[in-house]
Amino acid sequence: MALTVVILAAGQGKRMRSKLPKVLQPLAGRPLLTHVLDTARALDPAGIAVVVGHGGEEVRAACAAPAVTWVEQSEQLGTGHAVMQAMPGIPDEHQVLVLCGDVPLVRSDTLQRLMHQTGSEELGVLTARVADPTGYGRILRDDQGLVRRIVEQVDATAQEQAVDEINSGLMILPAGRLVGWLNRLGNDNAQGEYYLTDLIGMACGEGIPVQGIQAEADEILGINDKAQLARVERLFQRRQADALMAAGVTLVDPERIDIRGSVTCGSDVVIDVGVVFEGAVELGDGVHVGAQTVLRNVSLGAGTRVHPFTLMDEVRAGRGCEIGPFARLRPGADFADQVKVGNFVEIKKSRIGTGSKVSHLTYVGDAVIGRKVNIGAGTITCNYDGANKYQTIIEDEAFIGSGVELVAPVRVGRGATVGAGSTISREAPDGKLTLERARQRTVEGWQRPKKGG
Ligand code: UD1
Ligand code: CA
Repeated sequence: MALTVVILAAGQGKRMRSKLPKVLQPLAGRPLLTHVLDTARALDPAGIAVVVGHGGEEVRAACAAPAVTWVEQSEQLGTGHAVMQAMPGIPDEHQVLVLCGDVPLVRSDTLQRLMHQTGSEELGVLTARVADPTGYGRILRDDQGLVRRIVEQVDATAQEQAVDEINSGLMILPAGRLVGWLNRLGNDNAQGEYYLTDLIGMACGEGIPVQGIQAEADEILGINDKAQLARVERLFQRRQADALMAAGVTLVDPERIDIRGSVTCGSDVVIDVGVVFEGAVELGDGVHVGAQTVLRNVSLGAGTRVHPFTLMDEVRAGRGCEIGPFARLRPGADFADQVKVGNFVEIKKSRIGTGSKVSHLTYVGDAVIGRKVNIGAGTITCNYDGANKYQTIIEDEAFIGSGVELVAPVRVGRGATVGAGSTISREAPDGKLTLERARQRTVEGWQRPKKGG
């Protein structure tokens, strides 16, 4: 049976109190709507139509995806009216699955179940039993357990309001009958809207069975305000944490990890508390990530350890590296194996060879550093003259003393030693000691000034 998914995303989301359209509010670092689009695509439908209204252009631009049809609903006259806008172009023999742009946690497995348990000429509604049904449409069933009607909170009697089974807003319907029913919808209700939910009563009137398929309450949470957004964020993060643990990753606290993108882990990876992952992160076997660390688009080889309070952005490190604590590694930092980068070190756009050490208080930018190089504390590559950037080359086994300024473009030769405190602006030759330093002197007979003297 061919399927078209229709995603309702035209609402403004007033309660967000934000200029950003509701479906563009971020969940795990990506717009809400992109999560729903992912779920829709997982069902492999023949088509996906998204109904947009408020901030429609912005929504399209932010969620652009191939094979999505964007439908404009210029006035938000209700969920039934929204689905109506998408009907032209949907073949009669399709089933139409209605999803909501603000209900992002629903699992594709659950939607598969909704589809399988609803006959192709029947209706299926995803429901849930919840502790507090306030605000939701209530599911009213007949004595055979089929759904007879959905009544909105504002239109419900006290007895109906006591029902704790609610409408998720997600349903599946046969396209062939949908247009006829939608044309017959009225808006004579408390909100003056064309309710999609009124179709249930119409179907029942024609003897068409309406299945009510239950999901977990968490899956169908709708997001209307920032508090609900935060709640869904934690649930989403917990799901990702559970998936990592199921794959064998040790999370010191699964409630204190944030993944805004993807993390791929080898075996025996350990992640301490307060770690934020962004973009695509790959961690090899035995990697340890220390507390309060942010990794964005990072790849770490086996056995590498990142110590606490480290920031890494677009960085690749090989095997057995030691990084941090308090390191700031910027785009283009690229380490071979067994590299050590210590505290208060900033590195950008630089390659560092196997076994080299940059242990303390150092800035390395636009450099190519060979193998087994030691860079002393307080070393700075002076890579920028205010207009252009220049490269520093440090060959294998060079030793740079503490407090050295390397004024690029400059080269330090293989096995060269640079004395502490030097400002190096010309080549330091292979195998020799180079230093640039005024001779030390002691002033005889000098007296310290005295106070009140
Ligand atoms: C709807 C359901 C209610 C259900 C609840 C679940 C109806 C009449 N009610 O109520 O039974 O319990 O969802 O969260 O369907 N939208 C449009 N265009 C419109 C109106 C809405 O695109 O003209 C979109 C909204 O952006 C949102 C979705 O449809 O994504 C649901 O609309 P909303 O106004 O939030 O419906 P509820 O009152 O929450
Ligand atoms: Ca809603």
